[in-house]
Amino acid sequence: MAKTRRFLIAGNWKMNCLRKDGRALASALARRMAKTKGTRPPFDLLVCPPYTLLPLVAEAVKGSGIRLGGQDCHMAEKGAHTGDVSATMLADLGCKYVIVGHSERRSNHGEKSDLVKTKAEAALAAGLIPIVCIGETEAERDGGKTLAVNRRQLKGSLPDGATAKNTVIAYEPVWAIGTGRTATPAQAQEVHALVRAELVKALGEAEGHAVRVLYGGSMNPKNAKELLAQPDVDGGLIGGASLKAEDFWTVAQSCL
Ligand code: 13P
Repeated sequence: MAKTRRFLIAGNWKMNCLRKDGRALASALARRMAKTKGTRPPFDLLVCPPYTLLPLVAEAVKGSGIRLGGQDCHMAEKGAHTGDVSATMLADLGCKYVIVGHSERRSNHGEKSDLVKTKAEAALAAGLIPIVCIGETEAERDGGKTLAVNRRQLKGSLPDGATAKNTVIAYEPVWAIGTGRTATPAQAQEVHALVRAELVKALGEAEGHAVRVLYGGSMNPKNAKELLAQPDVDGGLIGGASLKAEDFWTVAQSCL
């Protein structure tokens, strides 16, 4: 059956790029997008730069159709939270999406699914689409816990009020992030099918089938096509390969 969900190709720049490189990367992508004008490519393109670059990247991609997102947000709308940024602030800068619950937040900052859920709900309240990340560690996979861990994280992190339009899920096996070890298409599809089944249980048939579920973890121009061809893989959340315009663009072209 042909996929009816529109692909989402998202670049997570993480803590990379100063202004010069960020501007050059965003402009290079905007130029490539501009060339597709009138053809409506089968993917949405999203970049999630560090906070410091958001206004500059917003300016560079203006009018190109490329979407802007944050990499995290606080659960509160405003207040005494030194060093944090709210979803409302991201929306104010033109963001449409925000990543929440990335494994680097879960491990470096001790974020648990209940907190991730409140962040996702703050994103929804601000009119942003949360990209809710889940994924097992290598030890959990080796211990045969992959499906249980992903089920638990998904159930715990899914925001109340989630719909296919306002929420995206990203499956990112921790052992595949930044390691060059990608999940095989079959490994990815196995977890994506589980996520799909859980989404159907939580949201009903129609909504559950319409939610976009992204794969992340060493996705690159070489492996993207096979991963994106899996029935429940609706795009990618790309780290390293999103820092080179040519590579990121080639990954997006793999949707065609
Ligand atoms: P890499 O593509 O560098 O493995 O990173 C994936 C990721 O964590 C995206 O959020």
